[in-house]
Amino acid sequence: MFLGPPGAGKGTQAVRLARARHLAHLSTGDLLRAAVAEGTPLGRAADAHIRAGRLVPDDLVLGALRERIGRSDARAGFVLDGFPRTLAQARALDAMAELDAVVSFELPEPVLLERLAGRRICPKCGAVYHVSASPPREPGRCDRDGVELRQRPDDRPEAVSVRLRVYAEQTEPVLAYYRERGLLRPLDASGSTDEVARRLNALLEGE
Ligand code: AP5
Repeated sequence: MFLGPPGAGKGTQAVRLARARHLAHLSTGDLLRAAVAEGTPLGRAADAHIRAGRLVPDDLVLGALRERIGRSDARAGFVLDGFPRTLAQARALDAMAELDAVVSFELPEPVLLERLAGRRICPKCGAVYHVSASPPREPGRCDRDGVELRQRPDDRPEAVSVRLRVYAEQTEPVLAYYRERGLLRPLDASGSTDEVARRLNALLEGE
């Protein structure tokens, strides 16, 4: 499980780790954004919360995650990215899955802000870029499908400040929940994506 503030690099590392270890990548943020894009009832209920930087209500997120964990590709194991965000979600997860490790991505706020401000995503395939750290080959266009890249609506400064406050108020208690159970592993998430991946692998090998 990857926990950490917005922009810490959880999604970037989750994609790499899942690919390298043949695990499913379960991101509640990705599930919710897909639901918004498809206009499903979940997406319609979640959209305003996401745009404002607030958490989506627990019952909606839990329903989506339960359905996702039940799919066949998750049976061999998964990397959980961006879940749980509240103590209620953490307690509900106890009944759904057994955890090997909980990694807490740690990064100073100025670096988080720089990563969020420069993030661009492909609206078609969901690929994530950064204007300076991992730019596409052709500026503003996805390498995979040539579609024009966009900024996430919740990466606007107004929403980012709400997300950071919500993280401190609602998700930091979740870190304490796993720390008390001896599961939490802090990860220095600074440096390049390769450096973070090496540190993450060393941390997981030590399990
Ligand atoms: P979600 O999508 O989970 O957002 P988040 O947790 O705020 O995390 P981010 O996606 O912003 O950042 P990340 O840590 O994955 O960083 P990334 O790898 O992309 O949630 C979005 C919203 O959905 C929430 O606000 C909420 O409304 C709702 N939601 C989701 N889950 C929920 C839940 N469980 N309960 C309730 N509501 C929920 O990297 C960021 C940028 O930095 C990218 O541009 C990347 O290219 C770049 N980068 C990454 N690593 C590096 C590096 N090492 N060096 C330089 N640049 C880097």
